[in-house]
Amino acid sequence: MNTLNATHDLKQDHLIIRRVRNIAERCSDKLYDNESIPLEDIEIISVVIEEFVDRFHHGKEEKAYFPQTRDKNGFNEDIRKFLIEHELGRRIARMLLREIKAWRRGTDSREPVARFLKSYAVFITDHTGKEDKFFDLIEDKGRISTKEDEVLMKYYAVCREQAGGKARVEQMMKLIDYLEAREWMKNDVE
Ligand SMILES: [Fe+2]
Ligand SMILES: [Fe+2]
Repeated sequence: MNTLNATHDLKQDHLIIRRVRNIAERCSDKLYDNESIPLEDIEIISVVIEEFVDRFHHGKEEKAYFPQTRDKNGFNEDIRKFLIEHELGRRIARMLLREIKAWRRGTDSREPVARFLKSYAVFITDHTGKEDKFFDLIEDKGRISTKEDEVLMKYYAVCREQAGGKARVEQMMKLIDYLEAREWMKNDVE
């Protein structure tokens, strides 16, 4: 696969985003199971959601990929739905953050935090699944020219700067690795 393929790039992000989904889901299960999870780890999940999933990945889709593909035959309605779903994701992420902050201040927010983590995991599964089908269609039909791909990849670089730059995005990858290696991630709920 061509590394300058803007559609493939988004599909690769989805693989990373599904790792975030697995972390959020596991964390939620363990909270419901009354296991103790460092609040700091949950705060890191929230940071990764906000910076990597939303600002960086949804940023690339909203500022570059979707505007470029919107006018191609028949894609308008799909894109409209994806944008609405992004807003839903943001709403869940905001509610999650609010409950994490309350927990930090001393309120017992275990249940709402578990609930919003679960909701966000469901959102990721549903949304990336639909988008992957859409991306496959675009790839199969060869709807993006090499020239368009090049332009999109340049826009993506701008989006990465807006999301804190290359070093910050790499830091996000390290945080995901860190979370996956945490003790509470290792075994399943009985
Ligand atoms: Fe999306
Ligand atoms: Fe996406």
